[in-house]
Amino acid sequence: MNIIITGGAGFIGSHVVDRYLKAGHSVAVIDNLSTGSVKNLNPRAKFYKLDLKNHSQLDKIFKREKPEIVNHHAAQAEVRRSVDDPIFDAQTNIIGGLNILHCCVKYKVKKIIYANTGGALYGAAPSAKLPVREDYPIKPESPYGMSKYTFENYLELYSKLFVLKYTSLRYANIYGPRQNPQGEAGVVAIFIGLMLANQSPKIFGDGRQTRDYLFVADVAQANVLALTRARNQKINLGTAQQTSVNQIYKMIAAEIGFTGKPIYSPAIKGEIRRASQNWDLAKKKLGWSPKVDLATGIKKTLKKKHSRPDLDNPFFALVN
Ligand SMILES: NC(=O)c1ccc[n+]([C@@H]2O[C@H](COP(=O)([O-])OP(=O)(O)OC[C@H]3O[C@@H](n4cnc5c(N)ncnc54)[C@H](O)[C@@H]3O)[C@@H](O)[C@H]2O)c1
Repeated sequence: MNIIITGGAGFIGSHVVDRYLKAGHSVAVIDNLSTGSVKNLNPRAKFYKLDLKNHSQLDKIFKREKPEIVNHHAAQAEVRRSVDDPIFDAQTNIIGGLNILHCCVKYKVKKIIYANTGGALYGAAPSAKLPVREDYPIKPESPYGMSKYTFENYLELYSKLFVLKYTSLRYANIYGPRQNPQGEAGVVAIFIGLMLANQSPKIFGDGRQTRDYLFVADVAQANVLALTRARNQKINLGTAQQTSVNQIYKMIAAEIGFTGKPIYSPAIKGEIRRASQNWDLAKKKLGWSPKVDLATGIKKTLKKKHSRPDLDNPFFALVN
């Protein structure tokens, strides 16, 4: 199949690119490299360096590539930035997303697969509701959660107005090779980066706050399954497990042989105490289950190179 992947030079999107190419699909990546890197890019993918907000150039790419599937991973993905600049967040995640949707309809794309968030949608669910299911009330607590949710609503609307199917995958906390240690959310990448540099990571609060950590290869597999399954569904991808920041710290420190103590700092105001996501629907609709446990995932993250070698890509900056 001809597939366009937005955000394919980013952490998760680049793993999806690899899996689609391995499955024999033809892949074109659209990415403005704002947080992604050419080093993540599979040299067998075509690459268009472009911002989603550039509608006329997007149109040209769709016209040329004639994709059957669009996999949409590009986003303004930082909660803090969304609070500081909600307009920029909405311009990327909503208007940029609508530009993609407009091209999908115009060029008769069959299906769009969307990388949504679970964590930023459900808010602080009480312990009794964890692991949270898809029908748990959605209450975004940041402009990022709101913009990601808004675009999911557009997908549902477009599936009714036009002949365009969708699958929205609501991710838990994803970790693995190529995650940017400079990013705000990737505690595994941040801890690994600091411990390898023999520096003590900071832990905000008492470190007993929990998250649901899902390995990136499991996410890529769900994106493969979604090519042909789970029509017009919103599906959680998580492990249904909770792991505390203190536990993560200990696991990574043990793996690296780091003996320093964490620097405990004041808790971040408004930070959710516990999070985990039920994946029964993913099993039912996609035939998916998480395969890589956290200990194995951390080992794999440490073993794999974080980037690819720089390669001359003949398609680089084809549009700009
Ligand atoms: N990492 C997680 O734990 C997590 C959790 C939930 C949802 N998600 C979603 O998964 C997707 C990928 O996240 P990631 O962690 O790989 O982040 P990432 O920053 O590594 O990837 C995002 C990619 O989008 C590109 N991009 C950003 N704005 C763009 C624009 N205007 N035009 C074109 N390209 C643009 C970036 O350059 C980058 O390559 C995002 O949609 C994010 O909301 C991630």
